[in-house]
Amino acid sequence: MSTKFNIAVFASGKGSNFKAIVDAIKRGSIRNAQIVAVISNNADAGALAIGREYGIPALHISRTQFASNETFNMAILETLTTRQTILIVLAGYMKKIDPIIIENFKDRIINIHPALLPSFGGKGMYGMRVHEAVIASKATVSGVTVHVVDEEYDHGRIVLQKTVAVDPHDTPETLAAKVLKLEHEIYPQAIQLIAEGQIALDAEQVTRFNSP
Ligand code: GRF
Repeated sequence: MSTKFNIAVFASGKGSNFKAIVDAIKRGSIRNAQIVAVISNNADAGALAIGREYGIPALHISRTQFASNETFNMAILETLTTRQTILIVLAGYMKKIDPIIIENFKDRIINIHPALLPSFGGKGMYGMRVHEAVIASKATVSGVTVHVVDEEYDHGRIVLQKTVAVDPHDTPETLAAKVLKLEHEIYPQAIQLIAEGQIALDAEQVTRFNSP
């Protein structure tokens, strides 16, 4: 039986958050944890290439490889249980997690969203659309939210947030860059707090770090 805090990362895109987590584990900022797999629905995901580079099992598991949702989800669950996964970390995973996986990993799946939920979230709110909406709303503050994943998009309990100022000259692109930089700090930090038991995912507890 493994004594490590085993993490499986799900990612569909570039994988910069995944890389930030890998780096944090390597330098000891997340202690006693290991990534047991990076799973992607996209064979070309940068995240899978990063996984291979770091010697982390990089698995392409896509719905198209299976006859039904059920067999697809069973394959994912089997991969997770074989690797004694404790926490699923979504890092730019573009597929909705099916209820059967949420049921099996209740309060053990987290996601990062590039804005301050519950604002600027929900179906269709991803990527640059989020930052465009923030700029259009004339909000003076945006930020990053780490939350528990439930059956609704961007809806589960918020566990950690950090703000960033939206400056008058910010464009969606400059805001996206600032927020992504913050994500790379906050996601490893959240995982460390969860692994150390300082944040309980099934408890009502929000940690806020406000920017100066
Ligand atoms: C991040 O902006 C994250 O907030 C969102 O998807 C993006 C993933 O970026 N959920 P990357 O693949 O980690 O670079």
